[in-house]
Amino acid sequence: MRLLFRLFAATSLVTILVMGGFAYLEVREERARLEEDLQRRATLIAEAVREAAEPLVARGARSGFERVLKRFGGADRGVALYDQFGSLIDATLDIKPYLGPLSPLVTNAIRDNAPQRRVSQVDGSTVWVHVSPLQRDDRPIGAVAVLLDAEHLESRQLSVWRQTGVRIGLLILLFTGLAWMLVRWTVTRPLARMAEWTKQLRGGHPVQPPPEADVSLFGPLAKEVTGLARTLARTRIVAEQEARLRLSGESIWTEERLKQFARMRFGDQAIFVVSNREPLSHVREGKEIRLQQPASGLVTALEPIMLACGGVWVAHGSGSADREVGDRVGLPVDDPAYTLRRVWLSADEEKGYYYGFANEGLWPLCHIVHERPQFRADDWEHYRAVNAKFAQALVDEMEGVDAPVVLVQDYHFALLPQMIKRLRPDARVALFWHIPWPNSEAFGICPWQEDILLGMLGADLVGFHTQFHCNNFLETVERAIEGRVEWDDFRVIRGQHTTHVQPFPISVAAEPTAAPEGDRNSVRARLGIDEMLVGLGVERVDYTKGLPERMRAIRRFFERWPEYRRRAVFIQVASPSRTSIPRYQALQKEIQDLVNEINEAIGERGWRPIVYRERHHDRAEVAALYRAADLCMVTSLHDGMNLVAKEFVAARDDDDGVLVLSRFTGASRDLRDALVVNPYDVEGMAEAIRIAFEMDPSERRRRMARMRSHVRERNIYRWAGLLLAELAPMPRGVTVGAE
Ligand code: F6P
Repeated sequence: MRLLFRLFAATSLVTILVMGGFAYLEVREERARLEEDLQRRATLIAEAVREAAEPLVARGARSGFERVLKRFGGADRGVALYDQFGSLIDATLDIKPYLGPLSPLVTNAIRDNAPQRRVSQVDGSTVWVHVSPLQRDDRPIGAVAVLLDAEHLESRQLSVWRQTGVRIGLLILLFTGLAWMLVRWTVTRPLARMAEWTKQLRGGHPVQPPPEADVSLFGPLAKEVTGLARTLARTRIVAEQEARLRLSGESIWTEERLKQFARMRFGDQAIFVVSNREPLSHVREGKEIRLQQPASGLVTALEPIMLACGGVWVAHGSGSADREVGDRVGLPVDDPAYTLRRVWLSADEEKGYYYGFANEGLWPLCHIVHERPQFRADDWEHYRAVNAKFAQALVDEMEGVDAPVVLVQDYHFALLPQMIKRLRPDARVALFWHIPWPNSEAFGICPWQEDILLGMLGADLVGFHTQFHCNNFLETVERAIEGRVEWDDFRVIRGQHTTHVQPFPISVAAEPTAAPEGDRNSVRARLGIDEMLVGLGVERVDYTKGLPERMRAIRRFFERWPEYRRRAVFIQVASPSRTSIPRYQALQKEIQDLVNEINEAIGERGWRPIVYRERHHDRAEVAALYRAADLCMVTSLHDGMNLVAKEFVAARDDDDGVLVLSRFTGASRDLRDALVVNPYDVEGMAEAIRIAFEMDPSERRRRMARMRSHVRERNIYRWAGLLLAELAPMPRGVTVGAE
């Protein structure tokens, strides 16, 4: 109420001042215009009377004046004639009794021999009085007075003020109302919601910030509160988790434990991560810039580590609006814990290094999926140049840091470890290879295998997901380059430098980082699948993921067990990936055609067996789908680990749901309670779907609980902790590859 009163007072004051000022000016102008008009008319009449009366006065006539007065007098005007002494000669009848007060004006006109004028009150009415001297030979011989009705001067003025008063009243009401609504909608209500939201957070409920927390309006305040809330929520989760673990006496790796561990081993030193894919892209959509988390297992795994340890993450700035935002970004945006340093690549560099050598060369080379690798000299040159570019960016970032710890990620940067060591021999470098490593014959077809191996061996530690891939790598080294492979300790010694090769099966954070968009029931209701059995797949559209094989298995399932028609549906989340590569375009088309064909052949009115969602999905959306599903299918033809499998398990805090998992994934070695399938065996996969849908609920829960406990124990913090523990004692300062 007080606010309303203040608004009212403020708008009243402003409106009165502004409108009153304008009205005053208008009244003045109007009055001047009306007076000018009266003056013009009075002068004309006086001139006419003067013409007729002057000869009469000059010759001292005693009659003839009535005629003049009759001709020029009228209902709205009076005329009076005076002699040279200012005495009245004659006047029109209606004004005769009231002429006394005009004497000074008449005397002045005769004395000064010049016209006089003013507004006067005559008989209670407002009149315009104009007196002109009568002359002979330019000397005054009398005067003529013309009186015009000027009542409208006042009434016009009054009416302007009256109108202004009404306008002011209306404007005050309108402005106060508008301001009141505006304040309520854009300030009071959002602030009340923010207050409510903060209250909920304090109560320990991790809720999304209200949409009204409009950053453009509340600016830094909304940002700060969001950041604070996020920090509070995270700190609370971490503290609760620690307390739980202490109580149960478990020694599980947590975010906090990793943070303490990194601090113990490396002090307050920043950790440097290098990957091709950035953890967050800025994407232009019309006039807006949107934040996008990429569909990347690597990002899912590494982000929690950066949140725990802080540091610098160097990555390719590939978002369409990244350059507008800048090459250094604090992340997470609303509560920065680490810095993203973006490296810019030209279109040619991206084409040669990323699409070309990395994804048309090394990707099919390392995955056994019968896709022939393409090796082009041009691509190789770009690959080398981009690795050098990243090495330089990293060295710039590490300036002033003693013995920096560098975690290089993946097949995009095989040459980077050696390059870093040459520039910074004191750096401790680990390279983690997120994809499989094939046997030595298969790898041997790469024309630049020696350079690649030497580049990788610049690292102090090379990690793979499985021991099998470590063995393949060591065998490849043994056969392809000079150096001593010590199989007992799984290390390669070249000159002064030793590279340890070890398996580190990657994982996820066990506690999902994104809150799902709604609970299981609301998601199912939103998708219109409340009563259905739901199968789910979440993939980048990649030929290693076995998507066509999975679609065929789904078709076969409905063919063999038609009683599931209309009772079951399969949702496939498909993130478009590497779409500039023809093979990926062809795959996209192949899957779309296959889905359409199956939906046409098997589908019925009001039911489609496959819901194909080919677009980018953010983590909260995917988390909601994980919880809504009855089974999740991971059918990769070959996969280093596959984190979708582990994410699905991590998301199922209801201990329910079945995982159907390809035996050709690294994850199948960790998640032994999944239904393990051969993705090339369509009949076997169809059978696994049926078994999953028909599995006894208690059996489902037992399996899921065991898998969850595995993911909980072998989480991403443990992965990072073990990797850092291996790296910490590595000797520093040996120059690598300076042949
Ligand atoms: O699995 C290998 C990998 O590079 C991951 O590290 C990453 O999550 C995924 O492929 C995504 O690929 P891209 O970055 O090319 O979209």
